Amino acid sequence: MDLDAFGWLLTDEGQELQARAGDLADLDPLRAQTELRRTAEPAQVAAALTQVDLRARASAKFGTDAARMYFTPDGLEQATRRPVATHRAARLNAFGAGTLIDLGCGIGGDLIAAARAGITVAGIDLDPVRVAVAEANLAALNLPGAVQVADATAVDHTGFDVAFADPARRSARGRVFDVDGWTPPWPFVESLLRRDACVKVAPGIPHDLVPAGVEAEWVSDHGEVKEAALWAGRLATAARRATVIGDGGLATLTEDDDPGAQVRTVGEFLYEPDGAVIRAGLVTAVAAGVGGGLVDEHIAYVTGDAAFRSPFARGYRVLEELPYREKQLRAALRSRHIGRLTIKKRGVSVVPDQLRKRLSLVGTEEATIVLTRVAGEGTCLLVEPLPLG
Ligand SMILES: C[S@@+](CC[C@H](N)C(=O)[O-])C[C@H]1O[C@@H](n2cnc3c(N)ncnc32)[C@H](O)[C@@H]1O
Repeated sequence: MDLDAFGWLLTDEGQELQARAGDLADLDPLRAQTELRRTAEPAQVAAALTQVDLRARASAKFGTDAARMYFTPDGLEQATRRPVATHRAARLNAFGAGTLIDLGCGIGGDLIAAARAGITVAGIDLDPVRVAVAEANLAALNLPGAVQVADATAVDHTGFDVAFADPARRSARGRVFDVDGWTPPWPFVESLLRRDACVKVAPGIPHDLVPAGVEAEWVSDHGEVKEAALWAGRLATAARRATVIGDGGLATLTEDDDPGAQVRTVGEFLYEPDGAVIRAGLVTAVAAGVGGGLVDEHIAYVTGDAAFRSPFARGYRVLEELPYREKQLRAALRSRHIGRLTIKKRGVSVVPDQLRKRLSLVGTEEATIVLTRVAGEGTCLLVEPLPLG
C-alpha cells in the first residue's frame, strides 16, 4: 500500500468502501471483490480488502483495538502486542515519564500504549506510510501524539524524558543473535543505553551483550517469550528480570528473588519454568520459590516435595519413573494402555513426534512423559499436570 492509497482510504469515500468490505468479509474473496468493483477502482478495492484482512489478523495482537486500527503487513508483523506494550507503558508511567520519543515507531504499537498511559508521545519513522498509519491509529483510538518522518540517528532526543527504540531486525539466522543489519543500528542502540531509555530487542540477546548497569527484562505472554527489553539509566531497577503475562495478570521476578538452588533428587513434583525465566537465568529463583532444587545443574527443570501454583512455572505431579530405553518404554506404555502421549523433553536429543510414532501407541488412556537428564542419566518420568486454576 502506498501513501496515496492509504490517504484515500482515510477519506469519507475510502471509509465507506472499507466498511462495505468489512460487511462482505464472510463472502468468498472473489465475490467480495466483484461486488466492491462496481463502485471503486481496483487499487482502492485492494486497499480496503487488505485492511479488512489485516484487522482480522491483528486482533490476536491488539484485541478489540484492531477493528479500529490500520496496518501494513510488515508493520503488523513487527508491532508489539498490546499486553506487552501496555506493561512497558505502565513501567514508564511508574518511573514518572512525562514525555517519550519513539525512535522508529512503525504502525504505533508501543506509541499507542504509551499515549494511553497518559505519556506525551512523539513518534518518528523513516517510512512515510508507517508514519501515516501510526498517525491514523492514534486518531482512530482518540489518543494524542505527534508523528513525523525522520531518521532516528539524526534527531535530537535529549528533550524527552525517555527515548524508546524497537529496531527493525533482519530475521534471525538460526539461533545466532546477530546485531548486524539492525536499523537503527546497534551502535545507535548502545548510545541510547547511556541515557534514560528503553530498547526492545529479540529474546535471544546474549547476556554479555547487555551493557553494565542496563537491565534486561524478558517478557512472555501466555507462555511465549515475546521480547527482551533493555532498560537504561534511571529506568534500570535490576540486572535481570523475567516478567510473565497470563490470564491471572502479570508477575515479575529478578535476581534479588534468587538465593540460588542446589541439584537434588527428583521429588513428588516437577516444575517447568516459563521461557522468560529461563532466558533471564532465573530458574534457580523458581526452585527457591517452590522450596525445591534442580534436577540437573544444566537443565531447566525444577523439582520439589510440595505442590505450588506459580505464575513462573507449569507444575506436574511425578507419578512414577518409566524406562528411558525405547523398547522398554513402549512396553511400559502398552501395559498402561496409553494411546495418547504428550512428550516433554529437555537436555536430551529426542524428537517427540518421531518418538511418538516409533512407540506405536495403543490404548484408551492419555498421559504425559518428561524425558530429561537426571544426574547425567537419561530419565523418563510419567507425570500429571497440576490444575492451572
Ligand atoms: C520493529 S519496527 C517498530 C514497531 C513498533 N514498536 C510497534 O510496536 O509498532 C521498527 C521501525 O523502525 C523503523 N526504522 C528503522 N530504521 C530507522 C531509522 N534510522 N530512523 C527511523 N526509523 C527507523 C522502521 O521503518 C520500522 O518501522
